[in-house]
Amino acid sequence: MSENKKALDLTIIGAGMIVNDLLLPAALQMRREGVIGHITVVDMRSSAVTALRESESLKRAFPDQTFDTCPAPGEPDSSDPELYKKVLAKQKPYQMVIIALPDQLHYTVLKGVLPFNQHILCVKPLVLKYAQAMEIEKEARERGCFVGIEYHKRFDRRSLLARKNYREGRFGEFSLGEARLIEPYYYRHSNCQNWFTCENTDPFVYVGCHYVDLVCFITGLRPVQISVTGRKGKFPNGKEGYLWSNGRVIFENGAILSINNGLGYPNEAGGGNDQGLIMYFEGDDRSGLLDHDDHFRGVEHCYAVGADKAFSYINPDFIREVPYAGPGLKPIGYGIDSVAATLTMSRDIEARVAADPANAPAIRRAAIAEANEKGLIATPENSSYNELVQEAARLSILNGGDLAVIDYSGDRPTVRLKK
Ligand SMILES: NC(=O)c1ccc[n+]([C@@H]2O[C@H](COP(=O)([O-])OP(=O)(O)OC[C@H]3O[C@@H](n4cnc5c(N)ncnc54)[C@H](O)[C@@H]3O)[C@@H](O)[C@H]2O)c1
Repeated sequence: MSENKKALDLTIIGAGMIVNDLLLPAALQMRREGVIGHITVVDMRSSAVTALRESESLKRAFPDQTFDTCPAPGEPDSSDPELYKKVLAKQKPYQMVIIALPDQLHYTVLKGVLPFNQHILCVKPLVLKYAQAMEIEKEARERGCFVGIEYHKRFDRRSLLARKNYREGRFGEFSLGEARLIEPYYYRHSNCQNWFTCENTDPFVYVGCHYVDLVCFITGLRPVQISVTGRKGKFPNGKEGYLWSNGRVIFENGAILSINNGLGYPNEAGGGNDQGLIMYFEGDDRSGLLDHDDHFRGVEHCYAVGADKAFSYINPDFIREVPYAGPGLKPIGYGIDSVAATLTMSRDIEARVAADPANAPAIRRAAIAEANEKGLIATPENSSYNELVQEAARLSILNGGDLAVIDYSGDRPTVRLKK
């Protein structure tokens, strides 16, 4: 099959923070490795794609790589939210698309991309409602399009080890947990202030979802009750958003997970953000413990020359650009592994199709079923509990923290307020 492993072209929709920090570096590295061919980044804001083209960090790491943008250099902003369709109209089918847009746009754009028959990597959360996730799952499966969701914490080695040891029964049964992910204060000054408003999203949905997904990934338990309380505040542009949140998730076995989230880790503090997970387990007349300090990973740097922030904790595990045998720098870490998992999966599916084109639909569907079953890459089917949790969380936070329940008793799970 290896001679059929041809690079797929990639369209990235959105040119914001996550594209600059993670997705484009990962894609450019995959391009070096022959997984990805031509890359086009499309954003309605000309300034966003210009910032990528002019990014010093990208130039330093990838002097040997290129990508195109839409709008092209010198072209103005676009007022067309479907600009990406003009780019996709020029692409061959069964190439790759990465969707990196604000949370509330994912559903519409997923529906817009699928008719072009593209494999898709979508940033988390896939969509905000369970029914929408199921709709995407069905259409993607029928078309033979692989959809992966970028829950990168799954690819952290400590998460993979935790999943293995939990599934082997070594920890005992999950009983009580506490997670936190507080993003830096400077996020409030980023473009997210334009969309991170109360009616669209909140810190629990934005980043708490990573730890909900992770606890489900480790334990396989289904969430059944959610309550989220938010604290509102103003962004620098005057828009109002939930800047802090406290959530509580109850699982089907009665286990309780408490999650604190926010946009407010001090810019001056040591880490890139504050995050971690503690889980307690019931065993056989003894208890189990898992403790992940995800923000201080044992590395401290203090620079004597020229850095904005002289002292910091260095997280070498998520994404770092390091020297390697080739030109520029090589991005490494579980963030890269996570993006690579879906990009490589898509490339490999098309290699199998190239070896047996007459069976293309069956090959693509079998690969999707295999990934659903394996459960490593989050897919619309195997991680749909995330949409149930997000739907319940939004219901709860918009109702002052009232308890929302997920009811699995019917043909399809439903979400409602308890009272
Ligand atoms: N840790 C993580 O997993 C992580 C971190 C950050 C962001 N994200 C997710 O990534 C997504 C984007 O976040 P971000 O921080 O990069 O946001 P951002 O605001 O920096 O970027 C979003 C970009 O989308 C563009 N855009 C909006 N509508 C468009 C359209 N119709 N067509 C083309 N471009 C359009 C905007 O112009 C903007 O440049 C969100 O869903 C967020 O939850 C995930």
